[in-house]
Amino acid sequence: MALVLRHTLHFLVLLLPLFHHLTAAVQVSTEFLYPNFTASSIGYIEKDNVFLTSRSSTFSAILSSDSPQSPFIFSILHTSTSTVVWSANFASPAPYTSVLSLSAAGLSITLSNGSLLWFTPRFPRPIAALCLLDSGNLILLDDVNKSMWQSFEHPTDTLLSSQRLPVGASLSTPNGDYRLLVTADDVVLLWVLGDQQYWRLSADLRSMKYLDDPASYMAANESGLFLISEAGRALYVVKLPRTNLKFMKLESDGRFHLMGYSGNGSSLTEELVAPISACDLPLSCGALGVCTLLSRGVACNCPTSFAGSADGGCSPADSSARATLSNCATEPSYRSLESGVEYFANKFLKPASSGGNVSSCRSLCTANCSCLAFFYKNSSTSCFLVNNQLGSFLSPRSQGVFDSSEGYIKIMAQSQLDSGRSRNLIPILLPSITVLLALLFAGIYWRRGKRISRSRKSPKFATLKLWTSKTRDRGFAGAGSISDESDEISIPDLPTRFTYEELIAATNNFRTKIGSGGFGEVFKGDLPDKSSVAVKRIKTGTSGIQGKKKEFITEIAVIGSIHHVNLVRLRGFCAEGRRRLLVYDYMDRGSLDQSLFVPSGPVLEWQERMDIAVGVARGLAYLHSGCDRKVIHCDVKPENILLHSSGGVKISDFGMAKLMSTDQSGLFTTMRGTRGYLAPEWLTNSAISDKTDVYSFGLVLLEIIRGRRNWSMVAEGWSIGGTAFGEMGYYPMIALEMHEKGRYLELADPRLEGKATEEELGRVVRVALCCLHEEPAMRPTMDGVAAMLDGTIEVGQPRPEALGVLRVYGRGFLCSGESGKGSSSSSSSSYSGLSYPYISSQEVSGPR
Ligand SMILES: *[C@@H]1O[C@H](CO)[C@@H](O)[C@H](O)[C@H]1NC(C)=O
Ligand SMILES: *[C@@H]1O[C@H](CO)[C@@H](O)[C@H](O)[C@H]1NC(C)=O
Ligand SMILES: *[C@@H]1O[C@H](CO)[C@@H](O)[C@H](O)[C@H]1NC(C)=O
Ligand SMILES: *[C@@H]1O[C@H](CO)[C@@H](O)[C@H](O)[C@H]1NC(C)=O
Ligand SMILES: *[C@@H]1O[C@H](CO)[C@@H](O)[C@H](O)[C@H]1NC(C)=O
Ligand SMILES: *[C@@H]1O[C@H](CO)[C@@H](O)[C@H](O)[C@H]1NC(C)=O
Ligand SMILES: *[C@@H]1O[C@H](CO)[C@@H](O)[C@H](O)[C@H]1NC(C)=O
Ligand SMILES: *[C@@H]1O[C@H](CO)[C@@H](O)[C@H](O)[C@H]1NC(C)=O
Repeated sequence: MALVLRHTLHFLVLLLPLFHHLTAAVQVSTEFLYPNFTASSIGYIEKDNVFLTSRSSTFSAILSSDSPQSPFIFSILHTSTSTVVWSANFASPAPYTSVLSLSAAGLSITLSNGSLLWFTPRFPRPIAALCLLDSGNLILLDDVNKSMWQSFEHPTDTLLSSQRLPVGASLSTPNGDYRLLVTADDVVLLWVLGDQQYWRLSADLRSMKYLDDPASYMAANESGLFLISEAGRALYVVKLPRTNLKFMKLESDGRFHLMGYSGNGSSLTEELVAPISACDLPLSCGALGVCTLLSRGVACNCPTSFAGSADGGCSPADSSARATLSNCATEPSYRSLESGVEYFANKFLKPASSGGNVSSCRSLCTANCSCLAFFYKNSSTSCFLVNNQLGSFLSPRSQGVFDSSEGYIKIMAQSQLDSGRSRNLIPILLPSITVLLALLFAGIYWRRGKRISRSRKSPKFATLKLWTSKTRDRGFAGAGSISDESDEISIPDLPTRFTYEELIAATNNFRTKIGSGGFGEVFKGDLPDKSSVAVKRIKTGTSGIQGKKKEFITEIAVIGSIHHVNLVRLRGFCAEGRRRLLVYDYMDRGSLDQSLFVPSGPVLEWQERMDIAVGVARGLAYLHSGCDRKVIHCDVKPENILLHSSGGVKISDFGMAKLMSTDQSGLFTTMRGTRGYLAPEWLTNSAISDKTDVYSFGLVLLEIIRGRRNWSMVAEGWSIGGTAFGEMGYYPMIALEMHEKGRYLELADPRLEGKATEEELGRVVRVALCCLHEEPAMRPTMDGVAAMLDGTIEVGQPRPEALGVLRVYGRGFLCSGESGKGSSSSSSSSYSGLSYPYISSQEVSGPR
């Protein structure tokens, strides 16, 4: 049947005198093509219009079009995933009557009237062959096989892991609106119209900085994404799961996606998306729209006194118009934004001035027609001007830093605008709310629809986007062989499955115990490959741990898929009968409490402490917003922060909260965590959220500064402030009072011997206090905390009125101290019938 069809088509093609040159070319060449070859969309109806494949068919050269007799794009395709990795004319599809030709002068696409649509540059020597390599590189060779031109040096919107993007080069979307650019010291995403950045590798929490040298190129290999120096050393590293091949693509909405291909089948896995938050895209809500991040997707609103406009953004609701480069007038007016509304590019902008006031900032904006809006930060007196083009704003809820700014949009009054034009337009621009919503939704659907309709060209990027958690769930459901009876469980990407015997051998029959908790005991072990591991033997039965093998393994797969340099790696697991064991990378310095609280032994230096704080903050930030699904740790404490002699800092026990909750509602029915690190919402039965971890982190941060437990007595030769607190005090309360007095030096661990400056201490104390705000919404996000700690953004001011809870706990501490109970004893739970969350590190719930 297919054969008959092919013959018919062949025959038809023969009949078309115009396309006589096509008949010879229907066959697909391998690796090489030689001059005086021509191809046109018409001749290639089968096989996706493939006319050339690489030696092992990994890549193919195609004339890709949505349907026969429609415009085509000359592209290189990764064959098994149908991913377009390079296109010649991707910004301007060629009419189907055009012809692609390879001649001694090079490659070109010629329109039917003879003009050139696309062509390679002139070469000093004639071209002898075109070659498609198994790396995906398309090369023009001269007669001594010297490369004259290669597609890898002219990337479009996609980069392969064998490819380098040198400094100054960029990936670009077909319409040219967005670029991924390698600069001398960074990789940035740029909104071209506004000349505004919306992402930087250096500011991304997932990247680790190693060196300060000038950059040479960006590249990915099977284990990560790198910015490499001229000497070939890594400046920035984003560690990623190991996959044979990685695709990096700048999507047309401005997002940068990195996808891994494991070498089997047609599936790609998403490994990195930048920026993480959809609200950080320049046009997340159209021009002047205000973006709010929801758990799934975003919500868009217009600022007060603005209404939706036909272009999908917002315009003044009255007869005036927002300023643009072309309607500049000398006396603009300004409309203020809701307090705390931010602009996506502000965190990457240099302030136009600092030290001025809001009126001097306004004058700066008025003086330059390029300026369309300005933001003034009261706390730092910085003035930011938004030039050239205005994109979307971030609603106060989408950020998490309190250092809020006042934003003003430049407006041109009706009288200043050209006469009739806008007057006639305004009524059209004021549709009812429903029409607006309809437009908005239509816009979203249209964009989605467009993406799907483009899926022929890049189906993997299109369908696997964003919601990988969903994909993953589906994947598991699909792996139907999971059953509690059978031990034959197969889930792709599962961490290694060990037998119990293997773990007995590895741990020398559980000889060396290195830790224990309500959750189980931890033993040191050595695997046959000589790597050291920590083996956690989970207490099952009464502990509430997922007894069902299927649920257990499903959770393990999720935990095992979370990779971050500050999260301890799950190497494998064992589930035999009722036995449940987890195998982690071994961290040779043990947990933070062992380094921090032990009076003898080497002192953790200040810089080391700060590295630990930043590492933990980044790890938590990644759990909260960097991976497929949000993971709330629920038990942030020094015991769960592990150190390695190489300087590594990793959080352990993440994902355990989910592993324990047996009900599927996602709600926590029993209290989890550890007394001493609990947020107030555990006691008030309020919702547990990522902000619960932020609170615990704030407490840990104070312990890092002090080098002692928050609830341990102030005694033995050092006192805080020398007064008021007597022998004891709840350290967070003291920190608050010292903050109010501006006396930070006295809060530091005396063992640091003054090596921490007052300025640094003040900064970190303020971050910690911000984390301790009673109202979860007033705490920063972990992203914000990490950025404040590493100095990327300014530190917000703690709000004393939101910290009253510390004083309540503080007074409770005094009472409990006076009642003669040892402050760190475990008899704490019954004090006055009230559970004070500060008192000891006793675990609240059994399983941990
Ligand atoms: C290709 O075509 C050009 C011009 O038609 C001719 O001069 C040249 O000899 C041809 N080359 C080959 C290899 O056939
Ligand atoms: C051929 O057509 C294109 C557009 O269809 C036009 O821009 C170009 O000028 C034409 N060239 C000639 C030589 O007519
Ligand atoms: C160029 O490479 C091809 C394929 O590897 C080979 O057949 C040919 O002999 C080479 N030509 C020269 C001049 O080296
Ligand atoms: C990937 O590149 C980095 C930086 O050049 C290098 O350190 C690492 O060893 C490479 N990994 C592999 C698997 O080639
Ligand atoms: C690819 O996966 C299938 C089953 O999923 C397996 O049978 C096959 O051996 C795998 N091939 C390679 C090259 O790994
Ligand atoms: C802002 O500063 C200028 C001088 O730089 C001063 O004249 C003006 O009164 C100040 N405005 C406000 C509102 O403080
Ligand atoms: C206005 O601002 C733009 C963008 O920063 C700048 O390039 C230009 O020189 C400024 N114009 C004046 C007159 O200051
Ligand atoms: C700005 O800061 C000054 C002093 O730092 C303060 O007096 C003023 O009330 C602040 N204004 C706003 C709007 O927060």
